[in-house]
Amino acid sequence: MQTFHTVAELRAALKKERLQDKSIAFVPTMGNLHDGHMSLIRRAVKESEVVVSSIFVNPMQFSANEDLERYPKTLEEDKKVLAENGCQYLFAPDALEMYPDGKRSQTQIEVSGLSDILCGASRPGHFVGVATVVTKLFNIVQPDCAIFGNKDFQQLKVIENMVRDLSSSIHIIGVDTARNDDGLAMSSRNGYLTTKEREIAPAIFKTMAWAKEALLENRASHEDIREQAQQKLEAAGFRRDYFEIRAQHNLQTPSEEERSLVILAAAYLGNARLIDNLRIELA
Ligand code: PAJ
Repeated sequence: MQTFHTVAELRAALKKERLQDKSIAFVPTMGNLHDGHMSLIRRAVKESEVVVSSIFVNPMQFSANEDLERYPKTLEEDKKVLAENGCQYLFAPDALEMYPDGKRSQTQIEVSGLSDILCGASRPGHFVGVATVVTKLFNIVQPDCAIFGNKDFQQLKVIENMVRDLSSSIHIIGVDTARNDDGLAMSSRNGYLTTKEREIAPAIFKTMAWAKEALLENRASHEDIREQAQQKLEAAGFRRDYFEIRAQHNLQTPSEEERSLVILAAAYLGNARLIDNLRIELA
């Protein structure tokens, strides 16, 4: 695997591949890679002849009080696992390579209606930062397809809608969430948890699974299920952010007829903010 830190070097290498008519799959990441990220790389290997990944902890998607500075950086280990799983090119720019002031760009991409709800309401500006950096990375790599995790379901929806709205030809692929044996979704932020918190953390998945059963059996109103779920999370030791039941296609409050739902949960545990989601198809 070759690693490049500048746009010019990566472009030159990918130009050669494109001249040979090779298809390119792209997996953007912020590093500190785990098996969830690797499932995206393995999918990329199946989709295309050339696999490109990026590691960039994007300042534009973090607000002032968030974990930008302490976000875990493990570049050497990341390079090893990427190469082992079949990634051929890694793009690892520094912030000045991506932004003139190292923080943000003057031009911003906002997917209205999706960027300011759920995680966007808790993290103002977050999805504008995500959509803008992903647009830049897409312009740099110019892949045929790009792979994202269902773990960040709202992010995936933002990217799908952005690509559609901007008439991009990049095919967006979503890959199922990789979980630990106890149900906890793999995440770089799990590293922030103490031993005690790590024992509590699977409650987020268990509570979503409980809510899914309740919905499938039509046991209570969405409002009641949401409130009971929040109480379960608080009893386990979480602080509330949101627990919502939404329509899968646009993440809005579903109509009575809606069959494809998704439970989206975010909650604080100690220094970490954990998010997860579970899709449901009603009969
Ligand atoms: P990061 O959190 O590093 O995640 C990179 C990709 O890995 C995302 O598509 C995410 O959904 C996926 N991923 C993370 N945990 C996963 C899991 N347990 N199972 C499956 N996929 C998982 O998401 C970002 O970085 C950034 O916002 C980025 C898109 C790179 C833009 O900066």
